[in-house]
Amino acid sequence: MIEPAISFNRVSKTYRTGFWGKSFIALDDLSFEVRRGEILGYLGPNGSGKTTTFKVLLDLIRPDTGSITVFGGPADQQARERIGFLPENPYFYMYLTAAESLHFHGRLRGMSRDERKSRIPELLHLVGLDHAEGRALRKFSRGMLQRIGIAQAMVNDPDILILDEPMSGLDPSGRKQMRDIILGCRDLGKTVVFSSHILSDVEVMCDRAAMIRQGKLQGIVQVGEMLDSRITHWEISCTNLPDASRYAGCIAQQTKNQLLLKVGDEAEAKNMMWDIEQSGGRVLSFGPLRTSLEDLFINQSGE
Ligand SMILES: Nc1ncnc2c1ncn2[C@@H]1O[C@H](COP(=O)(O)OP(=O)(O)OP(=O)(O)O)[C@@H](O)[C@H]1O
Ligand SMILES: [Mg+2]
Repeated sequence: MIEPAISFNRVSKTYRTGFWGKSFIALDDLSFEVRRGEILGYLGPNGSGKTTTFKVLLDLIRPDTGSITVFGGPADQQARERIGFLPENPYFYMYLTAAESLHFHGRLRGMSRDERKSRIPELLHLVGLDHAEGRALRKFSRGMLQRIGIAQAMVNDPDILILDEPMSGLDPSGRKQMRDIILGCRDLGKTVVFSSHILSDVEVMCDRAAMIRQGKLQGIVQVGEMLDSRITHWEISCTNLPDASRYAGCIAQQTKNQLLLKVGDEAEAKNMMWDIEQSGGRVLSFGPLRTSLEDLFINQSGE
């Protein structure tokens, strides 16, 4: 049997807060596995326990009960050397250049000078920062900082990457770059877990998605395989229709020049397209409409 990359076994964590030490359950009997080589999206609203899960894995805080294994063994110091971590709010030494910052992190990870010298250009290339090697981090944009953060997490070539909200604060092109880096990590055989509360990011790049809410795991879904089962309707956009009233029951939206039709059944939708073309109309687009992951999780958790 292939051991999972990470296994959480009935992990619970309670914080004590306020003057009276009132207890707050941040993780509640959490059990799940991260498979080797997968990208797992870890979803949840603010305050649901995502960062706490990562901190427990990295031994930054101790769980009250439960255990964690990494590649089938204890999550000890040796195992954690195989994990790279990008925190939610990473701290950067702003006066260091990109290369210096990676040398610094490499030294912290016990890498020799020769190892660092061959690894660092490779890493800068991987995160698309070759051109900024000698630039101080204080002159970096938010997206560039986030990318150097990932490079820091990967400095000693870890097998597992834990990224806490890697997309936060990035514009669409920054998100795309980050997505490509994460997908590139999987191509290199890494196991990646990243947290987010943005479902579309998870949908486009994850193999599986786990949802946590108030410290409890709501479920894990296989993102790719679920795509077909989540089709709710077929959508046809068309123009030049001589007689739109023929499709009155299916009209979702009508503008001066275009008509958007929604049909429940694929075969019926294909017949309708044929009919439109025959009657002199023109089909502009045709495709499935799917339930979003959000709806799926909301249905699962009964809310
Ligand atoms: N050190 C702490 N002491 C007390 N309570 C804490 C502490 N750290 C986190 N919490 C509480 O535990 C809960 C889970 O926090 P956590 O940071 O894990 O959530 P999160 O899912 O990462 O949220 P976000 O999306 O905002 O980053 C929150 O209600 C938070 O207020
Ligand atoms: Mg967090």
